[in-house]
Amino acid sequence: MKLRHVLPCAVALLGIGMADAQSVPTSSIPHLEKRGQATQLIVDGRPFLMLAGELTNSASSSMEYMAPYWPKLAAANMNTVLAAVTWELIEPEPGQFDFSLVDGAIREARKNRLHLIFLWFGSWKNADSTYTPLWVKKNPKQYPLFLAENGQVITYLSVFKEANWKADANAFAALMRHIREVDGNAHTVLMMQVENEVGCPGATRDQLPEAKAAFNAPVPGKLMDYMVKNKQNLVPEFRQYWEAAGGKTSGTWAEVFGDQPMTNEIFMAWNYALYVGQVAKAGKAEYPLPMFINVDLGESIGHYSSGGALPIQLNVWQQGAPAIDILAPDIYLPDFAEWCARYHRSGNPLWIPETRGDAANAFWAIGNHAAMGISPFGIERQADATTPLAQAYGLLAQAAPEILEAQAKGAIKAVSLNAQHPTETVQLGNYTLTFSMGRMRGPAPAPTATPTPAAAPAAAPGRGNAPASSYAIVISTGPDDYTILGSGLQATFNGPGGSAAAVGALEEGAYVDGSWVPGRRLNGDDIMLNYDAPNKAIKGESGQGFRLAAGAPKALHLKIYQY
Ligand code: DGJ
Repeated sequence: MKLRHVLPCAVALLGIGMADAQSVPTSSIPHLEKRGQATQLIVDGRPFLMLAGELTNSASSSMEYMAPYWPKLAAANMNTVLAAVTWELIEPEPGQFDFSLVDGAIREARKNRLHLIFLWFGSWKNADSTYTPLWVKKNPKQYPLFLAENGQVITYLSVFKEANWKADANAFAALMRHIREVDGNAHTVLMMQVENEVGCPGATRDQLPEAKAAFNAPVPGKLMDYMVKNKQNLVPEFRQYWEAAGGKTSGTWAEVFGDQPMTNEIFMAWNYALYVGQVAKAGKAEYPLPMFINVDLGESIGHYSSGGALPIQLNVWQQGAPAIDILAPDIYLPDFAEWCARYHRSGNPLWIPETRGDAANAFWAIGNHAAMGISPFGIERQADATTPLAQAYGLLAQAAPEILEAQAKGAIKAVSLNAQHPTETVQLGNYTLTFSMGRMRGPAPAPTATPTPAAAPAAAPGRGNAPASSYAIVISTGPDDYTILGSGLQATFNGPGGSAAAVGALEEGAYVDGSWVPGRRLNGDDIMLNYDAPNKAIKGESGQGFRLAAGAPKALHLKIYQY
């Protein structure tokens, strides 16, 4: 189908007026805004927390396949779905566009009160160029491929050929023009991912003549000048690598960064950034939605690809691709917290487009790193209202206005506990909260013949087992007041300098249309974490606090006083 034939009918089906470039005021388009301490996504004038999930790669290529999933995704408390739009399907012949799948996804998302983020599978998807149209694949003379060091041609489009990025940018611009026309007023589509996990085989670089020439030319002034002017603010691992090579302020790539494999990676990162940045810029000229790239941290094939925005390459990508607003990690590896920290720096806001469906991780990223949201991968397979993720999203959706305000004020933190990390202390506002994994009241587990030291506490009379996953968000809402959202843990607290503090008032409740509606007032057994409070008090420890049962996370409002 040609664009001129598809458009009027698509717009009619979507039930909205067409928006031309002039009629969409830039300020009303979904955009990123620095609000206090956080960079947030603003949708229709308000900050928006993305409770998202990403479809499997091929799902959005069939409306029939997707039909049963849209309502399930909405029922699982999602508000945003990430769906692929592929170059091969929107431009089957050069210059002939078919946006019927894009329109179908927008229509279904609206019906189910969902937002969309489109993933542009253009030149590369996980390094390879499998989503290019056949007319690109069959014409490597016009659209040249990557040349490996051993002389082998690899099926990756080369970043060093103008014809490649121009063809990609042309298709992406047509897509953005179409999204503006059908969605410039309604804002179902929030952001765009440009390409998918780009990179080339580890520690290598393209050997095409243009690539060799670029490698042997001076490091471009745009990067070199930035490094020199901002030396103290560069990400430390990048600065250290440069300094270890002599800290030169001009020269070829090998002269400035040393004749080592990592230099190939920095060189390729710069050139991928230039290419992807050009594609994003062409799209933004049509409709300037926020744009991000996603980064393979090395999980998929056991090692990462060369040239992606790995933590050491953050500054390189930021300078090479200013049209890309977020460098977003796909976090499948262990040590979720560490990866969040490595991407929430150097002015880069945190948004996690792919990860596992873990409620504790969602709380961690949103509470400790002002994340705009997270998005577990393969979401249609797990779209079920009873999963821990769906329950967590349910509570986050209710509390989103308060969470977003607290992110801007820097008045929010999170904890995530497990068997290896069973306690954590949070200092926020006037108090220190000491969290531990909750041991829920209930029947004691059967005693073992010879209890191990680790098993002994769990077998104490009247205690149940610790939950598998315990997590919470803590928001300071006033000098003595907190909102706690979480599951499977308990906490005591102290005032400044470790001074004694106790529960002034504790209530559970829920948010209805953004307002707090109190439920039970909690006291007695519900604030005495054990009956040993007198002995604890003599030792200067508090026995009072709050407890959140395992399972679906709940909300508490807490007032503390010092005595
Ligand atoms: C990472 C890719 O970005 C996704 O598109 C998908 O292929 C997942 N890997 C599969 O685990």
